[in-house]
Amino acid sequence: MVNMRKIAVIGCGFVGSSCAFTLMQSNLFSEMVLIDVDKDRAEGEAMDMSHGLPFETPMKIYAGEYEDIADCAIVIITAGANQKPDETRLDLVAKNVGIYKHIIPELVRVGCEGILLIVSNPVDILTYTALKLSGFPENRVIGSGTVLDTARLKYLLGEHLKIDNRGVHAFIIGEHGDSELAAFSSANVSGINLNKFCEMRGYYNHEESMQRIYEDVRDSAYKIIEKKHATYYGVAMAVRRICESIVRNEHSILPISSLTHGEYGLEDVCLSLPAIVSANGVEKIVPISLNDDELKKLKDSAAALKKVLDDVLA
Ligand SMILES: NC(=O)c1ccc[n+]([C@@H]2O[C@H](COP(=O)([O-])OP(=O)(O)OC[C@H]3O[C@@H](n4cnc5c(N)ncnc54)[C@H](O)[C@@H]3O)[C@@H](O)[C@H]2O)c1
Repeated sequence: MVNMRKIAVIGCGFVGSSCAFTLMQSNLFSEMVLIDVDKDRAEGEAMDMSHGLPFETPMKIYAGEYEDIADCAIVIITAGANQKPDETRLDLVAKNVGIYKHIIPELVRVGCEGILLIVSNPVDILTYTALKLSGFPENRVIGSGTVLDTARLKYLLGEHLKIDNRGVHAFIIGEHGDSELAAFSSANVSGINLNKFCEMRGYYNHEESMQRIYEDVRDSAYKIIEKKHATYYGVAMAVRRICESIVRNEHSILPISSLTHGEYGLEDVCLSLPAIVSANGVEKIVPISLNDDELKKLKDSAAALKKVLDDVLA
């Protein structure tokens, strides 16, 4: 029986510890298990965070074993090497698939019944890998996908238009990586078509500005890694948002990575499309309208991922 107030984080590096830290402040959970091959690391993080508990609502945070996570509602996996400067997310494939071949069978062994939330990169490839290695139902295997990239897009559009970014409705879809695309044709600000809204704010070079903003989103991780060697706060907030939708059964529409079944002609590949996320995990992909150019880019993105999957599975 799953305990909806219990969560696990596997991998307690920059990303895992940042996720744990935002989650301990979220009020969503009463128990959090931390696991890392480096046990001292997990123990140190658990101690450090526990010392902040007098300022938060009560919960248990501890370094545990796989046996401790069998009843967790959500298991977040951030274990794995991170991107080095000049390394693409896809370069990480071999290293991180190897790590997943160790972790996922452990989850199966202990009879984990929760939702797997994959965060390690390349996230789409690892979501597919986790799905296949675990044999879990598809609704229970989710990748954080382009939830972070979409937040970056909203932030940059908000800055560009000098408005609260929460009024911006736009998605980055496809691979969480170099082949991702911005679905600008359906983007709007509080129901007003994005280009029309830009004109209202005195901007007319739509194509040029949107291309620049898209490239800024796509290349954000590279720029941050160049400056501070890793990215972790943004993704931790994205993870918290996904967990919130699951634990509170919100049915929020989030661009998470999940297995496709013919949507836009895509089959048997995990990538990000807006989807309804609830206590059951991913419920349904939402078919937003795409123009021909976006559709082609989405198909190219899926093809790039499939090529990697073919190599990984070979
Ligand atoms: N999806 C996203 O939006 C997003 C954003 C940023 C980073 N990431 C990815 O998150 C991953 C982690 O990045 P990081 O900066 O935290 O790296 P990190 O090196 O700081 O941490 C990785 C942690 O994983 C642990 N680990 C390795 N093998 C393990 C195993 N078999 N079992 C348990 N733990 C294991 C390591 O000991 C380490 O503590 C990377 O793959 C990175 O690319 C994803």
